[in-house]
Amino acid sequence: MIVGVPKEIKNNENRVAITPAGVKAFCQAGHQVLIQKSAGLGSGIEDKEYNEAGAAIIETAKEVFEKADMIIKVKEPLTSEYDLLRAGQILLTYFHFASSWELTKAMIERKVICITYETVETKDGGLPLLAPMSEVAGKMAAQVVAYYLALPYGGRGVLMGGVPGVSPAKVIVVGGGTVGTNAAKVAAGMGANVTLFDININRLKYLDDILPKNITLLMSNQHNIEEEIKDADAVIGAVLIPGAKAPKLITEEMIKKMKPNSVIVDVAIDQGGCIATSRPTSHSDPVFKLHNVLHYCVTNMPGAFSRTSTFALTNTTLPYGLEIANKGYKEAIKGNKALAKGLNVIDGKLTYKPVAKVFNLKYYPVEEVIT
Ligand SMILES: NC(=O)c1ccc[n+]([C@@H]2O[C@H](COP(=O)([O-])OP(=O)(O)OC[C@H]3O[C@@H](n4cnc5c(N)ncnc54)[C@H](O)[C@@H]3O)[C@@H](O)[C@H]2O)c1
Repeated sequence: MIVGVPKEIKNNENRVAITPAGVKAFCQAGHQVLIQKSAGLGSGIEDKEYNEAGAAIIETAKEVFEKADMIIKVKEPLTSEYDLLRAGQILLTYFHFASSWELTKAMIERKVICITYETVETKDGGLPLLAPMSEVAGKMAAQVVAYYLALPYGGRGVLMGGVPGVSPAKVIVVGGGTVGTNAAKVAAGMGANVTLFDININRLKYLDDILPKNITLLMSNQHNIEEEIKDADAVIGAVLIPGAKAPKLITEEMIKKMKPNSVIVDVAIDQGGCIATSRPTSHSDPVFKLHNVLHYCVTNMPGAFSRTSTFALTNTTLPYGLEIANKGYKEAIKGNKALAKGLNVIDGKLTYKPVAKVFNLKYYPVEEVIT
């Protein structure tokens, strides 16, 4: 199979969908890899490294799309890329279809075979191709808190770990999944006094076994959050209810009662945010102040650490890409239930129920279209 990797063109997107190790794996399995010139530069990967691993470096995206049987990307195709795709071509990337009718319609009309990273789902409900980006965003959230707590950047002038004789920062984390656990670990590692909330008691029990002892685990409810937030220096929002908008667990009233110049990082902003006063921000303009509380609500946090994110993402996407290339998409999907969940569009048909529901279109079960 010919596998094509174009350069990402979305604003501030510096990740790339393959590393030299991935190129080697495809080539060793007998496939050909075409990479657009300078596709890896934003992640610190030179064309020469890809070339030495066995890839051909191609000048334009147009040529990559024209020649490849399967395109591997990071972000959804943008309007300028729609017409580069053709019927029957496989596209493996993050799509987030439910948030864009224009994109969904374009993929249906062009009859592209769309396999989305974000809906590949294991038997236990895990989302293996989404998790690595949550790990990055979680760890980063603690770093962001540490940075913005400094007075010159708008914070209270509190050092995460304190010093002997002076208390450390108090950091609240709401949501103890992948983002929240990673945020809590890093904040606690810096010496902060961390309180983590989750609504799932079994999750809290598990976290009690694995997290350091300077992290207090509390049941998430309005009363407990209200009590803890009053004297917090920082809050990290990390709640997810799969398939739904994030619940606004932290109300505007709670924010008003926070200490002046405290910091909130609402990582859940991509799902609407779990803090009532949040609104989406970007890497070029990441923060705003409201009720004298500094808000950081960047929707694509991992983009800031493009190199780490590229390697973390491709570690998990590569086995799926290889399986499709080695067996062909039909056999790969038939033999791998997690991958089958990733198929969203094929031959102009929607095969992922939640997306079909959002757009009020007919849903075709995967078993009916892949025979
Ligand atoms: N901004 C970004 O760049 C970025 C990057 C990665 C992930 N995210 C987002 O971060 C959010 C969290 O992702 P994740 O991978 O950690 O999800 P996850 O499913 O691993 O964890 C979510 C946690 O929230 C908990 N939860 C649900 N309802 C709750 C409540 N009422 N109170 C407290 N906890 C509750 C769940 O029990 C679960 O443990 C998602 O919205 C995700 O899309 C954003």
